[in-house]
Amino acid sequence: MFDNFMQRYSDALDTTMRETVDLLPAETPGFEVMSRYPLGWVNQDNQPHERQTGKRIRPMFLLLCTEAAGGDWQQALPAASAVELIHNFSLIHDDIQDDSPIRHGRPTVWKVWGVPNAINAGDVLFSLAYASLSNLSERGVPAEIILQAWKILNHTNIELTRGQHLDMYFEKQDHVTIEEYVSMISGKSAALLSACAEIGALIATQDKNLAQRYADFALNLGIAFQIRDDILGIWGNPDVTGKSTATDIVSRKKSLPVLYGLTQSDRLATIYQKPELTDADVAEAVTILDSLDAQGYTRSMETTYYESALTALDGANPQGQAAKWLHQFVNALFERNY
Ligand code: IPE
Ligand code: IPE
Ligand code: MG
Ligand code: MG
Repeated sequence: MFDNFMQRYSDALDTTMRETVDLLPAETPGFEVMSRYPLGWVNQDNQPHERQTGKRIRPMFLLLCTEAAGGDWQQALPAASAVELIHNFSLIHDDIQDDSPIRHGRPTVWKVWGVPNAINAGDVLFSLAYASLSNLSERGVPAEIILQAWKILNHTNIELTRGQHLDMYFEKQDHVTIEEYVSMISGKSAALLSACAEIGALIATQDKNLAQRYADFALNLGIAFQIRDDILGIWGNPDVTGKSTATDIVSRKKSLPVLYGLTQSDRLATIYQKPELTDADVAEAVTILDSLDAQGYTRSMETTYYESALTALDGANPQGQAAKWLHQFVNALFERNY
């Protein structure tokens, strides 16, 4: 689904990311494999892994925005590599925080090497992201713009961890409002997509106002993206998403379908108050959500944010063939099932 957009960028992006990860010292036993495994390059035994795992939508999106704002995508490659490294840092830590055993159809980093090693592997990718970003200077991006990109990325990391904090905090709260939920997902997911668009447009034009319009567009897109992730977290096909469907409910996540269900069903609230949720509880919770058409409600909220994103995109006035690709990309996200 995303291959059409990605084909133009994938080889160059992969090379840029590998050059960054090659900065790691090779002599330290077991150190590198834990960073390369989550990126989908190797298996647990450090042998090459043939299939790309993650969708790489964030770097793809950054490069599309660079082009749509009239820039040269090759110049932005180190920033694209940086956002994908940040994303993967966040996935490694997220899987610990969510107690998730499976990602990309494979055991998560903490499942293979334990939580202490997984924390460290996440930290390595976080640090490499900044190493990658600094390579923008080799592609002629002015120092002032690199500093701006650095600030955006850093602010994004604070937003991301704020969102992750709220996501965990809400597990223990019986009442969470839609506004609180939107604030949480704006941090944990949408902030990074917003940063991609903003940094891409900034590299292309050095125009902060235009970059802000791209950021507004992508914040709405990111909110819609996470709402869809919430749907896939309950009704997705694990063989396609590569993730478990029970995890969100077992850990009492206040995902959007559940928030809606809690306002409609006392029985669901009772299940969510149990100290431990069994497989039967999870199955019953899903049956309740189905009977309330929580998926339909969630889908309509997703549509609202996509529409806001498209309106904001018009305001950013994207140009040329890349503008068409950007619209196709947004549509592909809206229809995604993984
Ligand atoms: C998963 O993001 C985490 C969220 C922010 C919802 P993706 O669905 O983009 O994950 P990968 O990179 O393709 O694995
Ligand atoms: C997404 O978290 C945000 C981050 C990874 C920072 P989720 O917990 O909702 O995403 P998945 O479903 O595990 O990918
Ligand atoms: Mg998770
Ligand atoms: Mg999470």
